[in-house]
Amino acid sequence: MKSIAFRDRDLLSIDDFTAEELSAILSTAALLKRQPVLAGQVAAGKTMAMIFEKPSLRTRVTFEVAMTQMGGHAIYLQPSDIGLGTREPVKDVARNLSRWCDVIMARTFKHETVRGLAEYASVPVINALSDLEHPCQALADFLTISEYKATVKGRKLAYVGDGNNVAHSLLLLAAKLGMRMAVGCPAGYEPDVAVVARATAIAAESGGAVEITPDPVAAVQQADAIYTDVWTSMGQEEERQERLRVFPAYQLNAALLAHAKPGALVMHCLPAHRGEEITDDVMESPQSVVLDQAENRLHAQKAVIALLLGLAPL
Ligand code: CP
Ligand code: NVA
Repeated sequence: MKSIAFRDRDLLSIDDFTAEELSAILSTAALLKRQPVLAGQVAAGKTMAMIFEKPSLRTRVTFEVAMTQMGGHAIYLQPSDIGLGTREPVKDVARNLSRWCDVIMARTFKHETVRGLAEYASVPVINALSDLEHPCQALADFLTISEYKATVKGRKLAYVGDGNNVAHSLLLLAAKLGMRMAVGCPAGYEPDVAVVARATAIAAESGGAVEITPDPVAAVQQADAIYTDVWTSMGQEEERQERLRVFPAYQLNAALLAHAKPGALVMHCLPAHRGEEITDDVMESPQSVVLDQAENRLHAQKAVIALLLGLAPL
């Protein structure tokens, strides 16, 4: 475990790391959750630049709290502050920030933007959601699943709704860790074909499996956890009316939940639109772990930051 090197790497995609490395991030996060003191002051004197092209509650607060708890500091750069790619090219922003800051976190529209930051920055860049992936969310989600289910390998995660950025990172992480994942989504809203192909190839090695189906009931059968996310992601607002028409059969409600294993976890990355992708009763049910997921963003990201700044895996 100690031979795994994280220092100065980027986290743009779940696929940037091996299964062994991802497991090391998750075990470090679990230990830091129980014993925060183990991170020491790994971020003392260090500054994180937080670039946001989109709104955020959880991501902004958890990254900032993570830096504070580890002795460091974070600077929030709101969408209008820096005009990424408009006021100034991505490569100039990346090279300037690298002269002052020790790590960069970015929430962008295009995945190419976060890739461009990583290409030109000389410090680690963390993807805090792009249109393609949300890797920090998936890490927090698997930390949550592992807290409720003794083993992750061989279990089934069902995702119902839009085949989006969150679904992509979950597919890749499930495949890496040998979990079965079924995505129930309407035709035309499937996850990206390249991501599905990559996850399928990884799963073939790990003992996991990937299934994409238009049937939400088939997706959730035998599931240990059911996950959903908004039907209209940030940046897709003009498609909202059409999406409201297409997605209702994929709502996570009591009737759909009844088709999963008894006691299946109910998961959502939040923010949730109650009455759309999830009903209020399901969201508030004892099976719902959405607030654990939100809390675990902090612990997972503390692990990621600490490891990229040079902490040995715990
Ligand atoms: N889940 C998540 O990333 O939440 P925010 O958009 O509030 O950061
Ligand atoms: N898929 C959602 C996730 C929000 C955390 C979005 O991109 O808006």
